Amino acid sequence: RKYANILGIETSCDDTGCAIVNENGKLLGETLQSQNLIHLRNGGIIPDVAQDLHRKYIEPTVDKTLKTAQLQWSDVAAIAVTLEPGLPLSLAIGMKYAKHLSRKYNKPLIPIHHMEAHALVARMQHDITFPFLTLLISGGHCLLAVVQDVNKFQLLGESLDCAPGEVFDKVARRMKLRNIPEYSQLCGGKAVEMAAAKSTDVNLFQLPLPLADHKDCNFSFNGLKTSVMYQLYRKENEHTIEADKLIPEANDLCAALLMTTSRHLIHRTQRAMEFCHQHQLIPDNKKQLVVSGGVACNNYIYNTLTQLCKEFDYEIYRPEPKLCTDNGVMIAWNGVEKWRKNIHVTQNINSLDIKAV
Ligand code: KG4
Ligand code: ZN
Repeated sequence: RKYANILGIETSCDDTGCAIVNENGKLLGETLQSQNLIHLRNGGIIPDVAQDLHRKYIEPTVDKTLKTAQLQWSDVAAIAVTLEPGLPLSLAIGMKYAKHLSRKYNKPLIPIHHMEAHALVARMQHDITFPFLTLLISGGHCLLAVVQDVNKFQLLGESLDCAPGEVFDKVARRMKLRNIPEYSQLCGGKAVEMAAAKSTDVNLFQLPLPLADHKDCNFSFNGLKTSVMYQLYRKENEHTIEADKLIPEANDLCAALLMTTSRHLIHRTQRAMEFCHQHQLIPDNKKQLVVSGGVACNNYIYNTLTQLCKEFDYEIYRPEPKLCTDNGVMIAWNGVEKWRKNIHVTQNINSLDIKAV
């Protein structure tokens, strides 16, 4: 039998992604056009710039995906596209183009929630059954949820302020890690990870554990960010650092940030595991944790989570790094999951609109 092919489009932040995955979960083609270098040069993402780049890249990205998959539009059953959350200007380009394609080739659209896609993509490569616990850690989000079904997520907790990836990106920029050639092309999170690995004194800085006394599953990273920025400021004054130079303790400060972030993530995930046990949200004989989102690429964080899972008898699953960060594959895969169950497959494309544009 011939499997239906779902084409996915992702433009929620600063990556223009497209992929085609068939109903059986086989990846047939993918393209990812990153804007990272341009935004690094600008010192952060400027929404108008991101939008212009998506506008420029979207058509070639989709065309290239079909070409690498050696498929025609007649071979595509439906188009999955990120509806939310994300930068409204960026989201609007993907949605507008998906609608255009939907009209031109008469294909149904499948709206996708970006965070749900981050979690579900783990099921493309692993035999993970519902329900499962998920920890999603990225540049824009930090949340714990029980995934009961393809479109049924029970939120257990989320960040009260900023996201861990955002803190890594801001600290890396403020520390000027980019001035080290080895790190110059990397996102902040990866640069912090590499610098931390070179630390010779991981206990030099003591950073406060966020929400230490709170018995819920929420997160907070603002205080941690402020503490790191303060230590940085203090050391810069202590040494009178030249412009464009790093403080000598940069690696140790990165290590402290990474360790404390990790402790916080584990503290909250353990709380979620206990909560799931108490309320029987996760069956005792099949305990699964999916960790995904860009920050899940971090091996230190992943390893500490693996330890926690061992202790609590959970299987841990992490998509491969290129599927943890933003990509079109996860959107196409989520499209497949919805297609199989006929959820939200819509001909009424006018009902899909990005809010606040
Ligand atoms: O999921 P993602 O690609 O985009 C969002 O939806 O936010 O995540 C991007 C974030 C960035 O903040 C980046 O610094 C972080 O993921 N990141 C990492 C690592 N690789 C990417 N953070 C820590 N360690 C890494 N190895
Ligand atoms: Zn993301």
